[in-house]
Amino acid sequence: MKRKPFLAGNWKMNLDRKASVELARGLRDALAGTNDRDVAVFPPFVYLDEVVQALAGSPIKVGAQNLCDEKNGAFTGEISAEMLVDVGAKLVLVGHSERRHLYGESDELCNRKVQRALSVGLDVVLCVGEKLDERDGGRTDAVIGRQLEAGLAGVAAGSMGKLTVAYEPVWAIGTGRNATPEQAGAAHTHLRGVLRRLYGDAIAQSVRIQYGGSVKPDNISTLMNAPDVDGALVGGASLKVDSFLGIVRFK
Ligand code: 13P
Repeated sequence: MKRKPFLAGNWKMNLDRKASVELARGLRDALAGTNDRDVAVFPPFVYLDEVVQALAGSPIKVGAQNLCDEKNGAFTGEISAEMLVDVGAKLVLVGHSERRHLYGESDELCNRKVQRALSVGLDVVLCVGEKLDERDGGRTDAVIGRQLEAGLAGVAAGSMGKLTVAYEPVWAIGTGRNATPEQAGAAHTHLRGVLRRLYGDAIAQSVRIQYGGSVKPDNISTLMNAPDVDGALVGGASLKVDSFLGIVRFK
């Protein structure tokens, strides 16, 4: 099955208000009318509102980098799914490795966040990825399979159209050392097999799996040619118009 490529920029904790809006406007102007691939950006929470406005009428979707697993109440410092919808976000990252490993987010917490996001109609990009010692110990498939299955616990087949999976090996994030197309392809094929076991072949074939980790304009094409790679989740190279465009416009 041919899946529409999905290229997304995770801005992480970078840029300021002015730079965020300028980047959004630059992408909007360059990508007007783009419909053969899906594009999204994930700005910091505090700039979501303005980036949504800057991208009004553009095919580029705006998402948040995180959300709270609770609906509302005494959760100081947290941001709810409803608040994201309120400012016009359409999707949200869950389980990014920086959340899992720097802030201790468990598979169970990620699962609650997935459920919360889906309950308000947000699309979800569920991130999975192994650490270097896990890869070196031959545990890549076990780790990413567990993260995927646990993250999707209780998610009905009917919601899977709102799900994207991002495979982001931790050792490749921000290191300049991208996974080889063979490594990415093997991991993606394993993840698609997990989806097949959980949801059957038709759904497994329709879910897009992005690769993330040191994606750059000069390696995107070979990565996109790897089996089961349907797009990219880009950090550093998504912070400038030209470099992100060089990825979005891969051939
Ligand atoms: P880099 O592209 O900077 O390696 O970051 C990848 C990533 O974590 C995207 O979510």
